[in-house]
Amino acid sequence: MRNFTNVSDIGPLDIAVKEALKVKSDRFAYSALGKNRTLMMIFFNSSLRTRLSTQKAAMNLGMNVIVLDVNQGTWKLETERGVIMDGDKAEHLLEAIPVMGCYCDIIGVRSFAGLNDKTEDYEERVINQFIKYSGRPVFSMEAATRHPLQSFADLITIEEFKTKPRPKVVMTWAPHPRALPQAVPNSFAEWMNATDYEFVITHPHGYELDSFIGNARVEYDQRKALEGADFVYAKNWAAYTDPNYGKVLSTDRAWTVDSEKMALTDNAFFMHCLPVRRNMIVTDEVIESERSIVIPEAANREISAQVVLKRMLESL
Ligand code: CP
Repeated sequence: MRNFTNVSDIGPLDIAVKEALKVKSDRFAYSALGKNRTLMMIFFNSSLRTRLSTQKAAMNLGMNVIVLDVNQGTWKLETERGVIMDGDKAEHLLEAIPVMGCYCDIIGVRSFAGLNDKTEDYEERVINQFIKYSGRPVFSMEAATRHPLQSFADLITIEEFKTKPRPKVVMTWAPHPRALPQAVPNSFAEWMNATDYEFVITHPHGYELDSFIGNARVEYDQRKALEGADFVYAKNWAAYTDPNYGKVLSTDRAWTVDSEKMALTDNAFFMHCLPVRRNMIVTDEVIESERSIVIPEAANREISAQVVLKRMLESL
């Protein structure tokens, strides 16, 4: 695998999940693969899980790891071509990217949507510049429109916990005080659409997502959507459709996932990518319940990252 930015890069999902479970059963089995190879992880935005799990995955494979926080301790970077650089940005991404490529074998990039300009966000300008100019294989650690390492971990988790071949998975919008990108719900929809699960999305009017949702059923009545669910995947996202792109249209806590909503399901497992705002997205009671699988889900981030890095190393 050269680059990893979306579900199609991983190939057939049944094979990917099988490989993930094998890696999970002995995560040090491939520790010679990354010897004398260096992973550079570049963060334009904050992270807890992605940073730690990807670093751990690389260490399991015997790699060296360099972590760069672009907004701390490096020159401020200009990303637009043609700009007269007479402001506070001392270096252009077009020099910085190939320089970074000189010091490593594989690059991971986290660069969120700015939520100001939909065209710019959905063109994925930052990660695509890394792919074009670094000379190295590049993987997404959450880009503007997708978070494939998260979705892969979500899929592994559902496969581990499901009790029927074709579970009903419901992704529900839930309230949040700040505007959040659509990357996680876009990506989750893309990965769920690549399975044969029953997949339903529920959100208030105005929160329609881009074409990533494919043929998924959209149900505006959250309670109806949750009926008979086997997995409830909660997430907030800002509006995608114009003229409200990037805006918070609602913080209605009637959409918070609580015990009464979970009672409508078929004893569903509760999932969230984390970090989560308690009692906005989900109540304390639900996230602390025995049906909450947010911690195993986060733990699988190490496994999804390790499969992706393993495949990239095998292709070097
Ligand atoms: N879920 C996830 O990507 O977490 P972080 O933002 O902490 O990396």
